[in-house]
Amino acid sequence: MIDNPEETSQRKIEHIMIAKRDDIDLSTTSSWFEHVRLLHNPLPDASFDDVDLSWKFLGYELKAPLLIEGMTGGHEATLSINRALAEAAQAEGVAIGVGSQRAALRNEDLVRTYSIVRETATEVPVIANLGISHVIGDEGPDNAKRAVDMIDADALAIHLNPLQEVIQPEGSVDFTGSLAAIRDVTRELDVPVIVKEVGSGISKEAAIVLKRAGVRIIDVAGQGGTSWSLIEGERSPEGSVRWVASRRFADWGLPTPLAVMEVSTLSVKVIGSGGVRSGLDAAKCLALGAHMAGAARPFFIRAVEEGSDGVRDELNKFIFEMKLAAFLTGSLTVNQLRLTKKYLLTGPLKTLANERHIFI
Ligand SMILES: Cc1cc2nc3c(=O)[nH]c(=O)nc-3n(C[C@H](O)[C@H](O)[C@H](O)COP(=O)(O)O)c2cc1C
Repeated sequence: MIDNPEETSQRKIEHIMIAKRDDIDLSTTSSWFEHVRLLHNPLPDASFDDVDLSWKFLGYELKAPLLIEGMTGGHEATLSINRALAEAAQAEGVAIGVGSQRAALRNEDLVRTYSIVRETATEVPVIANLGISHVIGDEGPDNAKRAVDMIDADALAIHLNPLQEVIQPEGSVDFTGSLAAIRDVTRELDVPVIVKEVGSGISKEAAIVLKRAGVRIIDVAGQGGTSWSLIEGERSPEGSVRWVASRRFADWGLPTPLAVMEVSTLSVKVIGSGGVRSGLDAAKCLALGAHMAGAARPFFIRAVEEGSDGVRDELNKFIFEMKLAAFLTGSLTVNQLRLTKKYLLTGPLKTLANERHIFI
């Protein structure tokens, strides 16, 4: 299913305007990462300079296991944002995704707002993006191939966003056939499929089903950061059914640290994202078992306000803190941080982990 290209493009701009506002970001209240504490090692038997965060992902050597999550493209005004994000990803050696490419599947003129990312970020993984509703049905595998070819992508991220679509006034609310579509696309594409949420998380139960369908990389995109319920709710009149529901469901979903722990018990690659606001949060994702950490809104804000220099500064801050957290837990490599369970859970996160039978 492909919708009206002008409408899609206009929606992109509205999303950008609303996503700039802090009141749609749940991490300003709680990201849940405050309930994860990494275990301090006061006796690191090494130099800080010995910490090596380099990491292989999708065939590339990254400077750190970090991903600028898929966000934008699809309107002329998004070209400069994507260029800034891509310049920074290339310069700092981290992976990058583009936003949903549905607009460009219909309107060729918009292709460059996405392909600028591959043109700029030539030596890091670039991830294509489509919503699940655009891979359901007969056209699904073809849409998926075109999205990948459009930007010569190293993987395709399919986003699951049922809450967002229902709150969105013009959303696609029929998800019948989702799993079969994911299975077909996974089989037919030459590049890996990443299945992601957009801020409500992926549970162990859902991940098991996805794994059976052939998915090998899951980006949990859990609750605790950007709330797409709140963003879409702002596009309906105050007091209307959707507006009221958007507030009620603002923090719906599985908190990111919990989702990371749950999905990491399976043999799939896990990307920890949703409310990751610092290198310390990113390090916590790795300590909980993730293979990569990702963030969207922190890089988006810096790109919009300051261009690529701002994004580079943010990435540097992330990577420094990831390295510091590794050092202070006595980990010299990403795998040492990932595999030794150097964390403690507190408060409601500990209660939820117990409820979900996660044995820490
Ligand atoms: C401005 C903006 C646009 C986004 N557009 C998309 C998109 O097109 N496709 C997608 O899969 N996720 C999209 N996302 C969701 C992010 O990839 C991510 O899953 C979510 O924002 C949670 O991460 P955060 O809390 O770090 O922002 C977007 C996020 C932002 C902030």
